[in-house]
Amino acid sequence: MSCKIVVGAQWGDEGKGKIIDILSRDADIIARYQGGNNAGHTVVIGDEEFILHLIPSGILRKGKLCIIGNGVVIDPEALLSEINTLEKKGIKIDARLMISESAHVILPYHKVIDKRRGAKIGTTGRGIGPCYIDKMARCGIRMIDLMNPESLRKKIFANLEGSQEFNAEQIYKEYLEYGKKIKKYLANVSQVLNKAIAKKKNILFEGAQGALLDIDHGTYPYVTSSSATAGGASTGTGVGPTRIDEVIGVVKAYTTRVGEGPFPTEFEKGLMEKIRTKGKEFGATTGRPRRCGWFDAVIVKHSVAVNGLDEIVITKLDVLDEMDKIKICTGYKYQGKLYKDFPADIEVLEKCEPVYESCNGWMKDTTLVTKYKDLPENAKKYLGRLSKILNVKIGMVSVGSKREQAFKA
Ligand code: IMP
Repeated sequence: MSCKIVVGAQWGDEGKGKIIDILSRDADIIARYQGGNNAGHTVVIGDEEFILHLIPSGILRKGKLCIIGNGVVIDPEALLSEINTLEKKGIKIDARLMISESAHVILPYHKVIDKRRGAKIGTTGRGIGPCYIDKMARCGIRMIDLMNPESLRKKIFANLEGSQEFNAEQIYKEYLEYGKKIKKYLANVSQVLNKAIAKKKNILFEGAQGALLDIDHGTYPYVTSSSATAGGASTGTGVGPTRIDEVIGVVKAYTTRVGEGPFPTEFEKGLMEKIRTKGKEFGATTGRPRRCGWFDAVIVKHSVAVNGLDEIVITKLDVLDEMDKIKICTGYKYQGKLYKDFPADIEVLEKCEPVYESCNGWMKDTTLVTKYKDLPENAKKYLGRLSKILNVKIGMVSVGSKREQAFKA
């Protein structure tokens, strides 16, 4: 049996959906542990594309149990709509989805506040941050509260006391109805997972966003409000760290980020357009164009450390197929000082000059490659160099969006 965590090792959008889909073939249970419907995990099966926001990507594989842990924040409307969309596509959900009774609920006021205050950070506007604020302030509403009309009413009214903007009674009635529809999915997921571990089942923990968006380890304040690093899997599901066997980081062959915040290796306009178009770099949740840049080994090294990565999966290598020179950022220069390690001071990230080393490109199509040994020599050299700088093993390489376009390294 094994318990594996898959995390994004950059600013999210590394292609976790596809990798989780591949790894979930050997898993019995797939569990989400943080974030909410700010995530967008894309899986392509045949000619069909699925974008999952809340439900673990494992739902696309028959017979797998999918769990949404206590660390996730849930917008019931978005959840029910996602279930509905999947069912319409012929995917059976009922007995295959379990949701933590302790997961916090996103309410309409969270979304309004997020849209109002989140612009500076460029949030997804899904109410994620304000929901986690209420959780930490101990006035949040949890899934289990939706099952108890009296207490739900009291809590909503207390949170909206004095508000002219929101109609507490209407929200209460709406959320009570959601509760009725969601009741069948609720469970003590920590217990379910720990029992499954005792029975030697294989469990895959599906991280959302990425390490640099983590509330503690990311480019604060330009982060999301949850623990997107591996540690979040324990707190976000109720499975102790001693039960985890392996942590895998998903790393894009270059760098992207959505929303505001420092991005030392960001491309200038021409390259930005080229890579954005070739890599289809548009947000899976909001459709926003992603910012693109060279591979930043400083941030990924930080990610290897804070996640305790055992190995990494490199995705979207094919997007670099037409680049004659490829750069890797190995440090930052700021005010006469060379930073080789991730700096906590946001000003360094904002104003630094990246230090690059240059690799020769391969100028060949890699999308049909199915074995590592068949990659062009310069592509192998690039990957070898990344592995050396990061001091971590590359376990798998992905060269396209389809399931078949990935191989062991
Ligand atoms: P929030 O998670 O909506 O609060 O947004 C905070 C920051 O995280 C913004 O910069 C978002 O663009 C970014 N973000 C949130 N979720 C994702 C994701 O799944 N992929 C990439 N960026 C994300």
